[in-house]
Order: sequence, then C-alpha cells, then structure tokens
Amino acid sequence: MRVFLNGELLPKEAAKVSVFDRGFLFGDGVYEVIPVYNDKLLRFSEHISRLENSLSAINIKSTYSIDEWQRICNDVVKECTVPGDKTIYIEVTRGSAGEREHLYKDAVRPTVFVMCNPISTIKYNQGVSVITHDDIRWFRCYVKAITLLPNILLRQLAKDTDGSYEAILIRDNFVTEGAASNVFVVHDDMITTPPKNENILAGITRDLLVELMQETGMVINEEPVAAQSLFDADEIWLTGTTTGVAPVVKLNGNPVGDSTPGKWWKQANRLFIDYISEFKQT
Ligand code: PDD
Repeated sequence: MRVFLNGELLPKEAAKVSVFDRGFLFGDGVYEVIPVYNDKLLRFSEHISRLENSLSAINIKSTYSIDEWQRICNDVVKECTVPGDKTIYIEVTRGSAGEREHLYKDAVRPTVFVMCNPISTIKYNQGVSVITHDDIRWFRCYVKAITLLPNILLRQLAKDTDGSYEAILIRDNFVTEGAASNVFVVHDDMITTPPKNENILAGITRDLLVELMQETGMVINEEPVAAQSLFDADEIWLTGTTTGVAPVVKLNGNPVGDSTPGKWWKQANRLFIDYISEFKQT
C-alpha cells in the first residue's frame, strides 16, 4: 500500500517527515476525512472546500487545485489494499523551518500527506451510549485542526466511563457537537440540530442528512439546542463520516426515550443508507 507525501506516492514505511515539521512540534495543521464507497469519494468537492476554509483560517496558502486533489486522492484509492469501503485522510501542516519557533514564515513549504484507512462501519441496531461534558476546546471549532488533544481525551473519557461511544459537548448551556460527530435531537416529532457557526465543525454528513430529509418534506430546525433539552429528548442522533447516523439510547447512564433507536432515526438512517447504496451503484 502506498501513501502520498509531498508530491510522491511512497510505500507507507518509506513515508517520513522531519521532526521539525510544525505539525509534529505544534499541531500546526489541518485535515480532512473523506468517505470512499466503491472506490468513489463521497461529497468530494464539499470536503475539499472545507479543507480550503480550514487552510485559509490558519493562513496556509492553498496547496493544490481541486483537480489536483482529485487526482491525488484517486491515486491513493487505487493504491489502497483495504478491502471494501474506506476513508481518505488528508493532512496539511505548515511544514518544517528546521527549528522550533512559534512565529511562522511565509516561505515554509506545507507538508501534504494523504493515506487511506478502513472505515469502521458499526451496526447500530442496539444504539450507542454517550456522556455529556463541558466543551473544553478552543473557539474556532469550524477549523478542522489536527490539534485534537481535547477531542481524544473526551472520547477516551466516554469510553472509560461506561464504554460510551461519544461525548456530547456543552458550551454556555448549549449543545455544540460530539467530540468527533454532529448532534441531532428530537422532541415531540420536532428534529433540531445546532446551527453551523464557529463553535462546531460543519459536518458533511450533517449537511447531507439535512438535505436528504428536507427533500422528503421533513422539517429540520437548525437552531441552538439547550443542554437541558438533551435530558428529556425523545431521540438523539450523532452523524459523521466514521459514525454514519448513530442513535443514542443512553445519556450519562440514563435512557433516551424508550432506550431503543427511535422512529425518526429509522427514517433518517434509511434515507442515508439508501443514498449511499445508490451512490455506490452510479
Ligand atoms: N471527524 N464534528 C467534529 C468535531 C468532527 O471531528 C467530525 C468528524 C464531525 C463530523 O463531520 P463529517 O460528517 O464531515 O465527518 C463533526 C472526523 C471523521 C475525524 O476526526 O476522524
């Protein structure tokens, strides 16, 4: 299996970056995770445009055109020995200036790395457990930054608490998102998801699901979700590239709704699954 590093396709063992790379020293970089179904990249232009937004937010000049990204990603998919569905991981760091210095210089050449990974498709017949936690991240969560220390600590805390899958994050008494997913909440047949702003990542799966549901006439409110409303929700779902659409049946150890995946989740998940299978066939 070969990976892409700075213009070359290399065996993964041969792909090396400098210890002075600012990604290594400072977490100074951004990333994308794109789902690949039947060797085709889902919502590719949306993922690349989010990558461009992240790059511009941290003042890294755009590295490739969309056609170049397409060619690079397709090459990596072709090289990928992972069977079945997978994801493409893109990382762009500010590169290496051969020193550890907070201030960065324009002249540093970004490091670009692309690899493919298996997608861990989970069967959600039973639903998942989650915990809630203060959102301890920074104030620019719309940037898909590689600096993920809070996210990994929160996910690990969820896992260590009672085997939970995710931590739903709360800032100023409102739900932002999961540590690696977006959140939907259902009350009295009303579906709500927090609006896209600087506090959350604009999830591509979130947007796709909203689009699919709206196409069938379902009403989705993109409005702030009070943290308190999680505790009497009929349903809670999580969405993300590596999550799909996951029903939450337990919150901080207590049942959500009747503690089985809800009727609205069934509809939403069906729309998502049908869309993916159609995408695979086209
Ligand atoms: N994370 N919010 C956060 C904080 C995320 O890290 C992710 C995805 C999402 C969902 O976005 P999307 O639907 O575009 O995957 C929301 C990726 C998968 C990761 O870090 O591996």
